[in-house]
Amino acid sequence: MDVKQAIFERRSVRKFKNNPVEEEKIIDLLEAARLAPTGSNTQSGRFIVIRSQEMRQTVAQTSHDQKWMAKAPLYIACVADIRARIAEGEFYVDELSSPHEVKQCIRDVAIQAEHIVLRAQELGLSTCWIGWYTQEEIRNVLGVPQDKYVVGILVVGYGYETPSPRPRKSLDEIVHYEKW
Ligand SMILES: Cc1cc2nc3c(=O)[nH]c(=O)nc-3n(C[C@H](O)[C@H](O)[C@H](O)COP(=O)(O)O)c2cc1C
Repeated sequence: MDVKQAIFERRSVRKFKNNPVEEEKIIDLLEAARLAPTGSNTQSGRFIVIRSQEMRQTVAQTSHDQKWMAKAPLYIACVADIRARIAEGEFYVDELSSPHEVKQCIRDVAIQAEHIVLRAQELGLSTCWIGWYTQEEIRNVLGVPQDKYVVGILVVGYGYETPSPRPRKSLDEIVHYEKW
């Protein structure tokens, strides 16, 4: 599979087979995140591998009780460590935080996470991004300190559905040339 095929065939999948994701594939996914580009090579991404049924259920409940999530065998929580850019002092980050450094870290981790998504596709795995939670609640469940931001949780497994493509805007609607 080439990158184009992975991009074209990827869908958000919400039904999964029971098979666990093999350890070597999990490491491969994490490597894909590790090798992603980040601003000034700051590499603020930290990743929590979640496999236990208890943790999966708790995370699913915390994510607006999206019950389908708990059937997937693996989650990877993608966390921005804001300390990569703001080293000193007390710091609390949530949805309302405005410093430029917070946005930079979140941007970088989103790139790292999407590397995981595309590599998963190539490895025959399916994924769905999860972002429907509050920082306070998800951090509490995952034991993440308050100076870090949970950018997304990737639900990963062997898919049990082949969703049709969701609609996208046309290039005409989203592209400008030379200037806005
Ligand atoms: C940042 C982000 C957060 C998302 N959060 C959720 C979520 O909490 N629950 C869910 O079912 N899908 C979630 N999705 C999946 C989107 O609904 C999906 O990507 C979109 O509808 C397009 O469909 P496709 O991924 O199959 O192309 C999320 C996607 C992104 C990128």
